[in-house]
Amino acid sequence: MKNFSKLLDQADFTKAEIVELLNADGESCSKLFAMADEIKREHIGSKVYFRGLVEFSNICSKDCYYCGIRKSNTNVHRYNLSDNEILDAARFAYENNYGSLVLQSGEIANEHFANRVEQLLKQIKSLSNGELGITLSVGEQSYEVYKRWFNAGAHRYLLRIETSNQQLYKRLHPDGHSFENRLKCLKNLQDIGYQTGTGVMIGLPYQTVEDLADDLLFMQRFNIDMVGMGPYIEHEETPLYVHNDVLWPIEKRFSMALKMIAVLRIMMKDINIASATALQAIDPVGREKGVKAGANVIMPNITPGMYRNDYSLYQNKPCTDEEPAQCRGCLDARLALADSDIGYGEWGDSKHYFRRMNK
Ligand code: 5AD
Ligand code: FES
Repeated sequence: MKNFSKLLDQADFTKAEIVELLNADGESCSKLFAMADEIKREHIGSKVYFRGLVEFSNICSKDCYYCGIRKSNTNVHRYNLSDNEILDAARFAYENNYGSLVLQSGEIANEHFANRVEQLLKQIKSLSNGELGITLSVGEQSYEVYKRWFNAGAHRYLLRIETSNQQLYKRLHPDGHSFENRLKCLKNLQDIGYQTGTGVMIGLPYQTVEDLADDLLFMQRFNIDMVGMGPYIEHEETPLYVHNDVLWPIEKRFSMALKMIAVLRIMMKDINIASATALQAIDPVGREKGVKAGANVIMPNITPGMYRNDYSLYQNKPCTDEEPAQCRGCLDARLALADSDIGYGEWGDSKHYFRRMNK
């Protein structure tokens, strides 16, 4: 194996090399982060872009074994924001110069939902004079529905693959949740012309460093434009909680997530990488550490305060007691500490997308 610094000078890593990078610690780990930061600044600059995140409903038709809002969790107080509440949140993002909005919810696939999202997209475009970029993150849908939403103004879509290991995927989901369909959806999103984002959870029970290396190779092979990935955080009210005995310590899941970001930045220099909120659930400045390790997108939560506690995918979700305006001041201050400027009022699109589409 080449020495560590030499290894960092390339981009086409083999699986074994990625595993070595992910196992880095101490000085090697600092070198890895420094290299990722340098590559980011060289290829896409030092700006961090905001996407105001609106978690507009926690009603979900699926039953993922790791997720706190899975349909079988009867302890969850279910909510569904009104159209006006969603539009107010969009107005807040626009007026505060966030540049973009992410609409996220539990997964519902029916005509009523498709229509509602379509109308909301049009209204958000119109209230922001077409200026607010919109990302959707509402799970697996048909090609036609994705296409309608694209035509209505959504131009980015996030759909995590959760893990690229099919066997592990099966252990994390009940029958009827299909890995193949997830892949097909990602392909459809790319075909339609979305900037397409995916991601994985890091430190899942029975997940290995080799699996994580495969996840990064999957993203590279799939030519993905955006990635959001973060540590797995156990939730007491989910079936996966019984496997806690095999989990890596939370600090290891956290540092592994930072290393995943850094290695991916070296492999895919011009994509957008979000610093996941789950990082902040573990460390109060976790998202800023993600930025230092190569991420360039942050998704401040702009869901109205009273609903935040109910969107608990995992435990200790941060900022659940705050209102959107409080989050903004807090982020400004923290990002200054990470030597980054905020791309206020800019879409901050994935440069990779334009290269992929030859635009
Ligand atoms: N820990 C960390 N991330 C989780 N997600 C769902 N449940 C958890 C958990 N327990 C992530 C999934 C999903 C995204 C919206 O939240 O990756 O795609
Ligand atoms: Fe809602 Fe998995 S539990 S999508």
